[in-house]
Amino acid sequence: MLIKTAEFVKSCPGLASCPCSEKPEYAFIGRSNVGKSSLINMISARKGLAMTSSKPGKTLLINYFDINNSWYLVDLPGYGFASVDKDTRARLKRMIEEYTVGRMQLTNLFVLLDCRLEPQKNDLDFINFLGGHEVPFSLVFTKTDKISKSKLAANIAHYKEVLSGQWEWLPPIFATSSETKEGREELLSYIEQINNSIENQE
Ligand code: GTP
Ligand code: MG
Repeated sequence: MLIKTAEFVKSCPGLASCPCSEKPEYAFIGRSNVGKSSLINMISARKGLAMTSSKPGKTLLINYFDINNSWYLVDLPGYGFASVDKDTRARLKRMIEEYTVGRMQLTNLFVLLDCRLEPQKNDLDFINFLGGHEVPFSLVFTKTDKISKSKLAANIAHYKEVLSGQWEWLPPIFATSSETKEGREELLSYIEQINNSIENQE
C-alpha cells in the first residue's frame, strides 16, 4: 500500500473526545518506550509525525493520524510507566481500557513488545485483558535491529510457547524495526487486507 497522505488530526484526553468518524482505526499500545510512536513514523514514512523520545512517558494522550484520507493510525500512551504519579497512572490505565474496549472503530490493536525481553507480566496481563474482552489484536516485536536473527527467532518462539500455555489461538505476529524498516511491508499489507475486507462487507 502506498502512503499518499499522513496528517495529524487531534490529541484526545479520553474516549469521549475521539473523532466522530467511521474510518477504521489501527492503534498501537505497549509499555512506555517500546517504540509505538517510532513505529507509526516508520509505517507512515513521516519522520516527525508522532513525537518520540528516549525518555519513557512521551505520549500521554490518544493521538490520531489520518492516512490517505481513509483510515487512522492511533498512538496511545504506554502502560506500566512507573515514574508518573499514581493519579496520572490510574487515569492513563482507565483511558487505555476505555479506548480499547469501547471504541467501536478500533479495527486492530497492535500490541508492541520489545523483542529483547522475556515475556513481562504486565504485557501478558494486558494480552489476557484484550482476549477476555474480545478486542482484535496482533503482536508486534519491536527493535529487531538490536539483536541477532537467531536470538530474535528464539525469543519469538519462547513467547509463542508461553502464550500457548494460556490460549488455544495465537494472534498474528510481526517483527519490526523502526531503524531498518523491517516489517513495514508486512504491517501495511495486513492493514490493507483488513481495510479491503471491511469495504467488501459494506
Ligand atoms: P512512550 O510514548 O513514552 O510510551 O514511548 P513509545 O513507545 O512511543 O516509544 P518511542 O517511539 O518514543 O521510542 C522510544 C525510544 O526507543 C526512542 O529513543 C527511539 O528512538 C527508540 N526506538 C524506537 N524504535 C526503535 C527501533 O526499532 N530500533 C531502535 N534501535 N530504537 C528504537
Ligand atoms: Mg509514544
